[in-house]
Amino acid sequence: MAAELRILTLPEAEVPAELKLRVAELQDLAWPGPPGPSGPSAGPVHDPALRPLSMLLLDGTRVVAALDVLSKDLVHAGRTYAASGLSTVVTDPACRGLGHGRRLVAAARATARDGGADLGLFTCDRGLQGFYESAGWGSLPGAVLVGGTAEEPFPSDREGFDKVTMAAFFTAHAERHRADFPHSRIALHPGTIDKLW
Ligand SMILES: CC(C)(COP(=O)(O)OP(=O)(O)OC[C@H]1O[C@@H](n2cnc3c(N)ncnc32)[C@H](O)[C@@H]1OP(=O)(O)O)[C@@H](O)C(=O)NCCC(=O)NCCS
Repeated sequence: MAAELRILTLPEAEVPAELKLRVAELQDLAWPGPPGPSGPSAGPVHDPALRPLSMLLLDGTRVVAALDVLSKDLVHAGRTYAASGLSTVVTDPACRGLGHGRRLVAAARATARDGGADLGLFTCDRGLQGFYESAGWGSLPGAVLVGGTAEEPFPSDREGFDKVTMAAFFTAHAERHRADFPHSRIALHPGTIDKLW
């Protein structure tokens, strides 16, 4: 029953192993990796430097949806912002279309805001723009998020990608300079592990 659902929010490293394993299984279903002997594991997925915060929507002990909030400082148009983004958003295929994803993605927006981020920033496939908008996120027309590193950039407009940059402006600092973001290239550079976080 929906009323019994609760959200568990924990640093990725503190998620109990059995829950982490289930999240890894859901991630593996959504983004199958190359076949290998190991399979999904209870180990960390994200770069610890991005302070990964896991959010799990639980029905009792069952994981129905999960995501991670990643954070780093961003310099854009000469100004520094605390930025947080969503990563590895997934709902159990057995219970998609029931509003679980929207609920968790909306909660993550509040978590990012309450965690001190100036702005929320991430990319998604164009087909999911409406899904994120229905959870309170906005889109940045023409904006390209540049992932990877300065030496090895991984831009969201690379060949074969059809990505939209989603955002939320939380603080007065971010709101004041909001116009700097649409139709710009945003050098987020989250690193080599979470290339586009
Ligand atoms: C995307 C995903 C997390 C959505 O989870 P969900 O729990 O099924 O989403 P919800 O039930 O909250 O859906 C909310 C709305 O988004 C829409 N939506 C959900 N998934 C969608 C998709 N893949 N494409 C387009 N619209 C979608 C739903 O139709 C619904 O709209 P409605 O209220 O008008 O009917 C889920 O489909 C999933 O795990 N996909 C695989 C992993 C993935 O692509 N993650 C996103 C990475 S950016």
